[in-house]
Amino acid sequence: MKKISTAVQTTVAYQKCLNLDCAETFPVDETLTACPSCGSLLDVQYDWDRLPVPGSLKEFESRWANRNQPLDFSGVWRFRQLLPFAPDDKIVTIGEGQTILQQAHAVGKYVGMGAGNLHLQYEGLNPSGSFKDNGMTAAISHANMVGATSAACASTGNTSASLAIYASSSQMFKVFVFVGSGKIAYGKLSQALDYGSKTLQLLGDFDDAMARVKEVAGPAKIYLCNSINPFRLEGQKTIMYRVLEALRWEVPDWIVVPGGNLGNSSAFGKAFLELKQLGLIDRIPRLAIINAAGSNTLYRLFQEQGLRWNNGRPDQELIERFYTQMDADGRRAATLATAIQINRPVNLIKALRALDACDGVVRQVTDQEILDAKAQIGAGGFGCEPASAASVAGARLLRAEGVIAPSDRVVCILTGHQLKDPTVTVAYHTPQSESSRKLLAENEITTTAYANEPIVVENDYDKILKAVRGL
Ligand code: F0G
Repeated sequence: MKKISTAVQTTVAYQKCLNLDCAETFPVDETLTACPSCGSLLDVQYDWDRLPVPGSLKEFESRWANRNQPLDFSGVWRFRQLLPFAPDDKIVTIGEGQTILQQAHAVGKYVGMGAGNLHLQYEGLNPSGSFKDNGMTAAISHANMVGATSAACASTGNTSASLAIYASSSQMFKVFVFVGSGKIAYGKLSQALDYGSKTLQLLGDFDDAMARVKEVAGPAKIYLCNSINPFRLEGQKTIMYRVLEALRWEVPDWIVVPGGNLGNSSAFGKAFLELKQLGLIDRIPRLAIINAAGSNTLYRLFQEQGLRWNNGRPDQELIERFYTQMDADGRRAATLATAIQINRPVNLIKALRALDACDGVVRQVTDQEILDAKAQIGAGGFGCEPASAASVAGARLLRAEGVIAPSDRVVCILTGHQLKDPTVTVAYHTPQSESSRKLLAENEITTTAYANEPIVVENDYDKILKAVRGL
């Protein structure tokens, strides 16, 4: 593979407004989070004809051997020819993306798949414990390109943990994270605090925090690192490259992913569209985006109200009417899967493009289904946080509906590590305790069928031996 010179790089990559009636373009080294002309989302685009794209995806594998080169070691930047917006010397990497795809037999059985057909992509193995690091390395590299000195995000917890680790390890940025008060799992809050980020606990939820950070970032000249930032999504494309790599470059039948702010699903769709356009894959897998039933904007709009990408002209009035009604009803997002407790997904339009490209479907799953699936994922050898388990719960639902066939090859994305939210895990497995009972009841969890309850035993040799023999 040829190297791209820095000069070429900044002209072959550009930002483009997603709104077809506007479609304005902007240089890659401008800091924008929305089109200045019409306010729509921006995309990063490339003039692929002028870029040295590899003849085959297999070429990326050769970089595996080059582990003493930080950019080749990174599971994101190993694929840098497919996200060529940053000169090598501006890239900030902490070795993200060393994640694995594993055939999950026990979980596959739970989902209803044929033997060997369910795969779990374990993004919890990233440095900050979630998939966000794939995107954050890209956003922070872009921040470095444009000379930013401070950065911010709103977060349900993982974005803030990720931004915080990149800021503290690079020592290049002052970081502000905005979180909803009481709406963030402790594992994640502890990360932002421990990594030294300025943490603003807003008296509101994620949607409030997101709206505020957008307002404040411009005037305060702070670089915004939410997935509204198109460079973040460039990094998240690589999750799909690694899935393909692990499948020896064979395209699976389904990718199943939880939907919150819809950054991941948008990035996955873009990844497959580009790979197809470049002739590097011959077909695109189907995409299933899974909402929590308590924060199901995409499900309602796409599945119930028929909102579609519509060749780049989705029905904006339908979306506005939906949000006006949501506010009039006072409906706020509510789910135990706090990572995806979001009612105004910023990447809604890009997710519609992804659904269109991938012949996608959207489903919603209850917190009960999420927690049951999470317990099965844990028992199957791969722990995850509640939001991640929505993917497996969703696959199970699609299997029961017959949309997914037992013979399909399915990849569920486990987006975040098990230790992010121990409170919910412990509550599920100790349903009799006072605090668990309260938490489960408040969230309408009526059964804990897969609970692995601890056995209370007196501090006595005989009683312990008896207890062990009885297990
Ligand atoms: N899973 C986990 C563990 C997450 O943290 C998130 C999003 C999602 C799924 C949803 O992904 O937004 O790309 O649809 N967490 C964000 C945050 C919003 O602030 O950490 P998405």
